[in-house]
Amino acid sequence: MKLVDKEDTILWNRESDRYFDRSLLSLEDDLRNSEQEAKKLFKIISQKAQIKKVLDVGCNCGVFTNFLAKFLPHAQVIGIDPSEEAVKFGRERFKNLTNLKFFVGHSDNLPVEGEFDLVILRMVLQWLPRKDFFKTISEIDKVARNYIYINEFYPSSALMSTSVHNKKVKIFKQDYSQIFTSVPYYTLIHKSVYEKENGDDFQRGEFLVKKLPLEEAYKKRASIQEADRIK
Ligand SMILES: C[S@@+](CC[C@H](N)C(=O)[O-])C[C@H]1O[C@@H](n2cnc3c(N)ncnc32)[C@H](O)[C@@H]1O
Repeated sequence: MKLVDKEDTILWNRESDRYFDRSLLSLEDDLRNSEQEAKKLFKIISQKAQIKKVLDVGCNCGVFTNFLAKFLPHAQVIGIDPSEEAVKFGRERFKNLTNLKFFVGHSDNLPVEGEFDLVILRMVLQWLPRKDFFKTISEIDKVARNYIYINEFYPSSALMSTSVHNKKVKIFKQDYSQIFTSVPYYTLIHKSVYEKENGDDFQRGEFLVKKLPLEEAYKKRASIQEADRIK
């Protein structure tokens, strides 16, 4: 059992390095697209001053993360990724952004302390081996204080496929915002669906989920109890 887990981790760490290598081929295009996406995000989150700590989970070399640091100069921005190569590259490429830090780490055991006003999950949940999935959600829930931004494939129903780059790697596509909004203390405040490539499997969704204080989330509780009592 231990051996399988170890092999799995090695496979995934190598896959992260390979993803980083591939991403360099389209880096400039990806940077342009990420800048537009980050601008869009901060039109939805208009009160940028409230965002003081940001965590980008599975950030690769900071293609999206660097714009968070640029557009939120007053905030502390952290990107984590299993790929040491990606982290090394990101540290060097964005060294002028003094509010941006990168760490090597995995989503199911986040190498960070405290809470974050904005957590970014951009095309990462689909990657995770399912044995790490709920551990990851638990880690995100632990550190999330206000907003969670998710950008993922958005198929009409959940599906599992194989990576075109490595047949050993499975990819899991679904509406991940629902994992959070299935409990009352997360609410969906923005959703936009668009097609990046042709076909249903390639629809993409951007979701902004907000974490509510428990009192606010459960304020209808009393009336539910009342209705149950009357029945
Ligand atoms: C499709 S890429 C997206 C990269 C980046 N979020 C972006 O939008 O440009 C998926 C990223 O997830 C990272 N990743 C894979 N497994 C991970 C894990 N267990 N924890 C954190 N990141 C992981 C990969 O190394 C890779 O950088």
